[in-house]
Amino acid sequence: MAKYNISMSVIKRLPRYYRFLGLLLDQGITRISSRELSAKMGLTASQIRQDFNCFGGFGQQGYGYNVEQLRNEISKILGLSNNLGTIIIGAGNLGRAIATHMSFEERGFNLIGIFDKNEALAGEMVRGIPVRHIDGLDDFCRENHPSVAVLCIPGEHGTPIENQLVELGIKGFWNFSHSDIAARHPDLAVENVHLSDSLMTLCYQMNSRFGKNDR
Ligand code: NAI
Repeated sequence: MAKYNISMSVIKRLPRYYRFLGLLLDQGITRISSRELSAKMGLTASQIRQDFNCFGGFGQQGYGYNVEQLRNEISKILGLSNNLGTIIIGAGNLGRAIATHMSFEERGFNLIGIFDKNEALAGEMVRGIPVRHIDGLDDFCRENHPSVAVLCIPGEHGTPIENQLVELGIKGFWNFSHSDIAARHPDLAVENVHLSDSLMTLCYQMNSRFGKNDR
């Protein structure tokens, strides 16, 4: 794959472009100008041109962008066909919801294992995958070499399990726990997800856009 030097702020916008371009293809739209795309996405046309210029442009004056080509290029940059071996730690409400509803395979990941410390859950099937007891984690990882872990356990349990996971070869965390993995392992790939951050941002928007009496 070609190496790109793209800033994280652009990378963070790529999944949204990828999604929109997929919707356009579903509607049979094969090319689009930055102006049309900007109107659909609520970004400025110059922002879109700048973003796409980071990885070669793909636009032609008077033609616009080839939707499929652009989407394929974004897929390559994001590595969506990587098929990274992935395990979920914690088969509670969140772990099950993520296992059931997230299309890992379409996003570069291959969900191969789900682990929980609760023995009563061992053997239960979630999306066709058996929940395994956490005691079997070492053997499983040595045999199957997952490189990504989705942490769906309370934060206070984050540290011991994360060190164990790192020793077992995990290099990326999709981290729903409230444990600050990146601070302890700056060399790893960590994506923290805090739904509460998004909720508080909505709260700010409600406060700033609407007066007390309009809410
Ligand atoms: P839950 O109580 O339904 O499930 C947690 C599961 O993790 C339990 O089955 C438990 O046995 C297991 N577990 C705990 N420690 C473990 C360990 N060391 N190894 C293996 N399994 C372990 O809780 P729920 O609702 O699934 O939430 C899980 C965590 O995710 C909570 O701590 C919550 O704070 C956090 N959370 C984070 C969100 C976010 O946006 N970042 C959103 C929702 C929940």
